[in-house]
Amino acid sequence: MIKKGIILAGGMGTRMSPLTKAVNKQLLPIYDKPLIFYPLSILMLAKIKDILIIVNKGQLNQYKKLIPNGDNLGIKISYLEQESPKGLPDAFIIGEKFIGKKNVALILGDNFFYGQNLSKMLINCSKLNRGARVILHKVQKPELFGIAKVNNLKKITTIKEKPQKFFSDLAITGLYFFDNNVVKYAKKLKPSKRGELEITDLLKKYLSSKKLKAEQLGRGGAWLDTGSIEDFYKTTLFVSAIENRQGLKIACIEEIAFLNKWIKKKHIKKAIKFYGNCNYSSYLKKIIT
Ligand code: G1P
Repeated sequence: MIKKGIILAGGMGTRMSPLTKAVNKQLLPIYDKPLIFYPLSILMLAKIKDILIIVNKGQLNQYKKLIPNGDNLGIKISYLEQESPKGLPDAFIIGEKFIGKKNVALILGDNFFYGQNLSKMLINCSKLNRGARVILHKVQKPELFGIAKVNNLKKITTIKEKPQKFFSDLAITGLYFFDNNVVKYAKKLKPSKRGELEITDLLKKYLSSKKLKAEQLGRGGAWLDTGSIEDFYKTTLFVSAIENRQGLKIACIEEIAFLNKWIKKKHIKKAIKFYGNCNYSSYLKKIIT
């Protein structure tokens, strides 16, 4: 089982400067809530209740104003700072103590997932005992992502980071489930040509010992990353279209906690007070009436 999760919310967000000069990217809005709510909601949907958020050095206070700890969500949230971005596997080195002897999930702070079967798939993935599991999704520009090729048996045969030459269009999304070996493997990695530890090198360790499994988020699911300003607005439009049509919110973390029975009505009332008079609070009111 996976009971611990890490959100890697570091990074300088240079591609989005000047927006990110004073504010961390993950605190900027995707429609009606900060970006960080989306990856957090994914871990909560996977029923993970012990969560470490890794943030840039000096940005801890910004986060604590928004999510002081997990009390109001019935979960545990802790924070650690990253001196400088060294690549995704660094999350397991920074988080070594937090992980301890447990298995762990990692989600990138700027990844957005949506889809009908998502919750079921997440719960399934978090049942992992040994090995690693990734989620694949078809993309139009494979050269921008970590890419996997799968055979007829849906097993991964090859992995490459940002391939220049086409060999598959299945991107490895920024949500990973690992057994405890991940810490040991991460520590052995050497920086790549771009000077970072690469998650794909880490995954290759599991692949070579035949311990890497893949799930596919089918065409009914959406995976968007919010690396650039264009992506930010596209994701915002997506969320606003769905929320306004259905009257249901995506990534309302209090609602997920409530439906998971981790919190009671009194916690929602406290959240309404905390957020104040806003559309998000009106939605929370509806949940408990
Ligand atoms: C990183 C990973 C890549 C993965 C992507 C998902 O890319 O290196 O394997 O597909 O996240 O968002 P980066 O954001 O460093 O370009």
